Amino acid sequence: MGKVSYTDLVNPAVLNQPTYEPGKPIETVAREFGLDPCGIIKMASNENPLGPSPLAQSAVAKMLGEVNLYPDGGATQLRERLAKHWGLKPSQFLIGNGSNEVMILLAQAFLRPGDEVVFGSQAFIVYKLAALMFGAVPVAVPMPDYRHDLAAMRAAITEKTKLVFLTCPNNPTGTINSPASIINFAKDLPEHVILCLDEAYTEFLDEAADLRPLIAEGRKVVCARTFSKIYGLAGLRVGYLYGSEEVIGLVQRVRQPFNVNLVSQIAAVAALDDSAFVKLSKEVNSEGLRQLTAGLSVLGLEYVPSHGNFLVFHIENAAGIFDALQKQGIIVRPLAGYGMPNSLRVTVGTHEQNERFLRTLGELLKTSNIK
Ligand SMILES: Cc1ncc(COP(=O)(O)O)c(C=O)c1O
Repeated sequence: MGKVSYTDLVNPAVLNQPTYEPGKPIETVAREFGLDPCGIIKMASNENPLGPSPLAQSAVAKMLGEVNLYPDGGATQLRERLAKHWGLKPSQFLIGNGSNEVMILLAQAFLRPGDEVVFGSQAFIVYKLAALMFGAVPVAVPMPDYRHDLAAMRAAITEKTKLVFLTCPNNPTGTINSPASIINFAKDLPEHVILCLDEAYTEFLDEAADLRPLIAEGRKVVCARTFSKIYGLAGLRVGYLYGSEEVIGLVQRVRQPFNVNLVSQIAAVAALDDSAFVKLSKEVNSEGLRQLTAGLSVLGLEYVPSHGNFLVFHIENAAGIFDALQKQGIIVRPLAGYGMPNSLRVTVGTHEQNERFLRTLGELLKTSNIK
């Protein structure tokens, strides 16, 4: 015994999987640094600092007594509510355990070993993970000025390309491409390529590309959305994919029967009705972005202008500053994994949270002579 290890047996694609490093949870940082969790602020995962949508919270409270029952595997009510929201058919929606899951399901349904997946070099890491997981080849296209270079992405497409991921605003850089340029990009793709527009942060924009007319025309376009960001439901894990009935029907085949729990489905339905909360969250975010950019400028730090609910700034010894901020109870996100070792990403918080972050960062800069 002992000659054949699990590693010998495992699917080689598993060994190629880079590890996804999420924002550090409050409890972990509290334990690591001996801090009171109540005094820690997490500005690391682009969550909503106002908490969950109040309408979703009340709906959840009512459902807790029913969790002895399985959820509706088809998420009928949520798909019907989304259909009304978007003016599409319920059969054009697939609900997932976060939009992360729907993008993995899309990849699972369509990717074969050797296919190519095109995305931006500083875009959400899950696109690369999805490609590698199914034996496809990740093609990371450089992003000058931290923005998707749509001409370069088009040029990277070959006859082997199956999927293209595009995010607007992009995470982690917060950059955007104009709605017209995204629509032209989508129209210019060859027939064998599926475009997935990741709209995780689109609610924070005033103006966004609407790809529904392209879906109606039969172009190979799908969009992913999430309840984790502006709706404040990251802990419940709900997201969705929308596209033509044909593409959604195919991806439904690889979805597990009860992938989204009963409480999350109800919360998402209620959150869609909470337009007051969405409006407030957007306003607080715009104000917070102004506060953070002004504060960073005062500290003499450069940042990437952002259209999301987060901001990338450049700083020497980013790893040291990341640690030092944690010791002061502030969790941000290091970006070395995205090829930006001298940058950090901070999620826009409440006015008080932003103030505390800027004050603490200022004190650290004074004591460490870092820029
Ligand atoms: C660009 C982007 N897409 C998708 C997701 C996944 O969100 P979720 O799985 O919580 O819906 C995230 C999460 O941070 C993201 O930044």
